[in-house]
Amino acid sequence: MIKKKADKTGRNVPCSCGSGKKFKKCCMISKKNQLPDYANKYLSRYQIRLKGPEDIRAIKRAGQLTVEILDMTEELIKPGITTQDIDKLVHEHILKNKAIPATLNYKGYPKSVCTSINEVICHGIPSSDVVLKDGDIINVDVTPILNGYFADASKTFYVGEPGDDAKKIVETARNALKLGMDAVKPGGAVGDIGHAIQQYAEGEGCSVVREFVGHGVGFEFHESPQIPHYGRRREGITLIQGMVFTIEPMINLGKKELKILSDKWTAVTLDGSLTAQFEQTILVTENGFERLTPFEL
Ligand code: MF3
Ligand code: CO
Ligand code: CO
Repeated sequence: MIKKKADKTGRNVPCSCGSGKKFKKCCMISKKNQLPDYANKYLSRYQIRLKGPEDIRAIKRAGQLTVEILDMTEELIKPGITTQDIDKLVHEHILKNKAIPATLNYKGYPKSVCTSINEVICHGIPSSDVVLKDGDIINVDVTPILNGYFADASKTFYVGEPGDDAKKIVETARNALKLGMDAVKPGGAVGDIGHAIQQYAEGEGCSVVREFVGHGVGFEFHESPQIPHYGRRREGITLIQGMVFTIEPMINLGKKELKILSDKWTAVTLDGSLTAQFEQTILVTENGFERLTPFEL
């Protein structure tokens, strides 16, 4: 059989879209980002926007910046600093990298990062009045927009020397995210993730927050689908290659119930118990998953 010679001439002709650029510099490039046939079904049926190779590269870059900022934050955290100091560091480093802090002015949220201490489940607002003290635990949640693409990740850090309860809840939350991620594979279901997390966390005598869930991310801050951190195996949408979402279990040492403080953001455990969270942005791949905010748990 004769191999057909590649027709290279078409690459250099003016693009038919009318941009005036050569085809190879214009619409041909978008072919690299082509999505599979089932992408339309996921969009119309579930409002899930699958990501192509170029999208994934861009989200990864935002993800690398996120991890870099989390690492810098870890260096800064010690007894005596304020959560405003963390906001300043995160804000400045995001701007320095020509990115935008997604949380700033998001639905009225006033800061560039969320800092959630001890019984604060999530969305703690940085303040110069809040001073970290030895034995605290603090979740720092960072979400830059780089070249229009969002990444979202968080970690809980120890301030000084942790007590036994702090160690218990932080290590349980860390393992919960690990197990949630390990449940991700194409052909699996959204419910597999929540099931793995809930089984483990409740088995450890802890509880799983229901009101806040993981979410699609990348083109926007919060996209479809929702990723609950509780649930049943094989339930919910089937996971497929090209889905990008967060898993971000919030695990309480006591009961699962919460309340929102009068600032309308800060979510705290109703029983005042310690709570911890880790979050990563991940991609469903051909064989499993990949971290787009690549830090080891
Ligand atoms: N980063 C959070 C998440 O994981 C969302 C924070 S929204 C804010 O989804 F407005 F509170 F900052
Ligand atoms: Co987040
Ligand atoms: Co998130």
